[in-house]
Amino acid sequence: MEPNFYPTTTDKIARYEQFLKEFALFIERETEEISILANTTAALREAFDWFWIGFYIVHGEELILGPFQGNTACFRIRKGRGVCGTAWAKACTQIVPDVEQFPGHIACNSLSRSEIVVPVWQDNKICAVLDVDSDQLNTFDEIDRLYLEQLCQLISQTLYRNKTKCKEIL
Ligand code: SME
Repeated sequence: MEPNFYPTTTDKIARYEQFLKEFALFIERETEEISILANTTAALREAFDWFWIGFYIVHGEELILGPFQGNTACFRIRKGRGVCGTAWAKACTQIVPDVEQFPGHIACNSLSRSEIVVPVWQDNKICAVLDVDSDQLNTFDEIDRLYLEQLCQLISQTLYRNKTKCKEIL
């Protein structure tokens, strides 16, 4: 059956619960990392319609742009730079209610107002980060952290099960 991630509820928790259930089934048989990451961004766009959704993938001392949905974005981010590089360096999710208040925020698009960045782990190392931007202030909270961390864990388990190496893969 064709997957359908379009929301049937406005309740945020219910929407995430529905999303995670469908998404787990959707990726269960897939093995290709890039394909899984690409469809993750497409599925999140269908379900939540955020402004920009994408992965930055660890490559040496930099993050490089991976699969995304939205406007063109910076190709490379150094460790510790911007929100993405900070999530990587500090090894924890960053919630930014107002990007203008985040020192060193990298503005790929001036319409982006708030942001959440969640690490993807593999073998006790961060192999990528999921970056979600909103064109509204204060979009992301602890509910987003909880469920997006679960999503990244599911992605990591799927990749690990399939024994691909998160790319440092590329
Ligand atoms: N704002 C991010 C850069 C990536 S773009 O938002 C797509 C950051 O500060 O790391």
